[in-house]
Amino acid sequence: MPVLSFPLSVQATTASRLSEINFSDIQFGKNYSDHMLVAHYENGAWQEASIVPFAPLSLSPATTFMHYGQAIFEGVKAYKDPQGNPLIFRPVENWKRFNRSAHRMAMPDVPEDLFIEGMRALVNLDKDWIPTATDTSLYIRPFMVAVDEFIGVKPAEKFMFMIITSPAGPYYNKPVNIYIQDKYVRAFPGGIGFTKAAGNYGMSMLPTAEIRQMGYDQILWTDGFEHKYVQEIGTMNVFFVVGDKVITPNLQDTILAGVTRDSVITLLRDRGITVEERPITINELAEAYHTGQLKEAFGTGTAASIAPIASLTYHDDRLSLPPLEQWDIANSLKAELTNIRYGLMPDTRGWTVGA
Ligand code: COI
Repeated sequence: MPVLSFPLSVQATTASRLSEINFSDIQFGKNYSDHMLVAHYENGAWQEASIVPFAPLSLSPATTFMHYGQAIFEGVKAYKDPQGNPLIFRPVENWKRFNRSAHRMAMPDVPEDLFIEGMRALVNLDKDWIPTATDTSLYIRPFMVAVDEFIGVKPAEKFMFMIITSPAGPYYNKPVNIYIQDKYVRAFPGGIGFTKAAGNYGMSMLPTAEIRQMGYDQILWTDGFEHKYVQEIGTMNVFFVVGDKVITPNLQDTILAGVTRDSVITLLRDRGITVEERPITINELAEAYHTGQLKEAFGTGTAASIAPIASLTYHDDRLSLPPLEQWDIANSLKAELTNIRYGLMPDTRGWTVGA
C-alpha cells in the first residue's frame, strides 16, 4: 500500500457473500461486492477513510442531498488480465472528471490518492469479485453526497465520498434503438450537462420511460434552442461513421466528456482514421443515411462500452443501420479496447492501472 495523505483503515468482512453470486449469469448493477469505501469531509478537510463491509447507511431524513441533489458519481471498470491480476481502466480520467463535477456542484475536491489509492485498495480486497467472462467486469461506482442535516438551501459543509463495486455483465445485450428527442431538453449552455450529477439522470427518467413505451431503448438528446444538433445518448456519447470519416459532437458544457469517448477517438486517430469533433445536425444524419453514407452508429460509455445502434428515429423517419456483420469500425474498435482492458495486448498508452 503506498503512503497516503490520509489514514485508511480496513475492516474485512467475516461473512463473504461471494459464493452467492452466479458468475455465469451476471447482469448489470444487481450485485455488490463484500466491501465499500467511506470517507467523510467536515471542518473543511477530508477525515479518515475506511474500507468496511458493504452495508446499508443510516442517515437523517433531513440530509441535504436527499432534498436538493448535491450528489455526483462516476463509473469505472476493473478487469482481470490473463494472470488474474486486476486492471483498472483509466481511473485518473474519472478522478479528474469527478472533481470537475464536484466544482460545478459546490462540493469539495476529492484528493487523487483518496480516489485512486482508495479504489485500488478496495478492488484489491475484492478482486475475487471481478468476473472474467466475455463482456463482464467489476463496475466501480465512486460517488459523493452532501450530508448536512439542514433543509435550508445553501451549499453543504459536510460530504460523504464512497466507492462501491459491482460484478457486471453488459449494459445493453443487443443493438439499441434510439429515439431522437425534441420534446424534452437534457442540457443548456451554462447548466450541468458536462457533469455526472445525479440530477442529470433523474431528469431523464420520464422522457426515457415515454420512449420505452414506444418501443425504443434510449434517447438521443438534442440542443435546447432549436432541437437541431444532436448531443449525447442518455448513458453514452455518440459516434457516426459517415463515408470514411467518423464524426461525434464536439465537447461543450452540455456534453459529458466520456472516458470511453476519448479512448475511441485516440484508437481511431492512431489507425489513421479521420475523426471530426463538431456540431452535427439531425438533417445531416438523415441526408447521410438517405445517400447511403451513414454506415455505422454507436454509443460509447463505461457501462455500455461500445454499443451498436440498430436504428435512429426522428419523428416518422426511421434510419435503420446496416446489419452489424457489415460494420468495420465499431466491431474492431470494441475488440481492440477489450484486448487493452483485459491485458491481452500491450497497453502502450498507460491506460490500465493495477490494483
Ligand atoms: C457509466 O457509463 O458508467 C455511467 O455512469 C452511465 C450509467 C450507468 C449511468
